[in-house]
Amino acid sequence: MKISINSLSMTYPNGKQALQDISLELESPSLVGLLGPNGAGKSTLMKLLVAGLTESAGTILADGAPLRKNETAYKRRLGYLPQSFGLYDELTVERFLEYMAALKGLHDQKKAVQAVLSDVNLEEKRRARIRTLSGGQRQRVGIAQALLGEPRFLIFDEPTVGLDPEERIHFRNLFSRAAQDKLVLLSTHIIEDVQSVCNRLIVIHHGRIRFSGTPQELIRMTRGHVCTFSERPEEDAALHITARVNTADGVQCRAVARTLPAYAQPAEPTLEDAYLYLIEEAET
Ligand SMILES: Nc1ncnc2c1ncn2[C@@H]1O[C@H](COP(=O)(O)OP(=O)(O)OP(=O)(O)O)[C@@H](O)[C@H]1O
Ligand SMILES: [Mg+2]
Repeated sequence: MKISINSLSMTYPNGKQALQDISLELESPSLVGLLGPNGAGKSTLMKLLVAGLTESAGTILADGAPLRKNETAYKRRLGYLPQSFGLYDELTVERFLEYMAALKGLHDQKKAVQAVLSDVNLEEKRRARIRTLSGGQRQRVGIAQALLGEPRFLIFDEPTVGLDPEERIHFRNLFSRAAQDKLVLLSTHIIEDVQSVCNRLIVIHHGRIRFSGTPQELIRMTRGHVCTFSERPEEDAALHITARVNTADGVQCRAVARTLPAYAQPAEPTLEDAYLYLIEEAET
């Protein structure tokens, strides 16, 4: 599956311009992480990709054809987890998934539901009503419905929100396995989600693409812009402090800056440093 996004812009009816001139090529197999601060435009981009919103300008092509031209066939190949979604609280997990499988037009609904229940570790909750589930379990039901019918293109809007560390690792592995032969796009605020499994990273900020490449490339770009030092009484406005740790020798700081001060020791960037530096630079 190949998605080509050309000069895409989105302005909401209230005049808010959420995306400006986005161009991207996404091709399977790939696991693409979408990062950006709150309000950057991640969910808007995802809604456009599932044809849930109509773009103000630009085009999206799926395997060369405009989305709207083949919308039904396109949607059949999609799995989507929205950032916020209503579940049918009174239904059991199993009934809800069977209902979603029916909406997707799947023939063997029972078999499809069984497969996704096991993918998300919810087999023991199959007969529980959705209103009785914990936040993380509900999130897993959301992921399960996206996986129904083995879609070729999976779009997950903050899928690991509310999951405990063990479940987050489970889902990272699941996404990584899915991406072996599919296109998986996931948005997140958790850098480790991207670091450990994504082969491509897209950073958006104020509706524009600020970076597209591998996590390693972003880290490489940040070399020479990360340092550590012992806390000093006077604040240095050109430094953006990313961590402050109390140690036996006093407070140790970690910071990103365009030019490192002479008193600081250069440090090897992490992906988090690289992301923070990119956003910091985009703001100045
Ligand atoms: N229906 C809407 N009408 C008007 N403005 C909207 C609408 N939905 C989103 N926006 C605005 O568009 C911008 C992008 O929002 P979007 O939800 O795409 O951001 P996001 O990157 O997903 O943020 P978050 O990390 O908080 O989920 C924001 O400024 C938001 O206020
Ligand atoms: Mg969002």
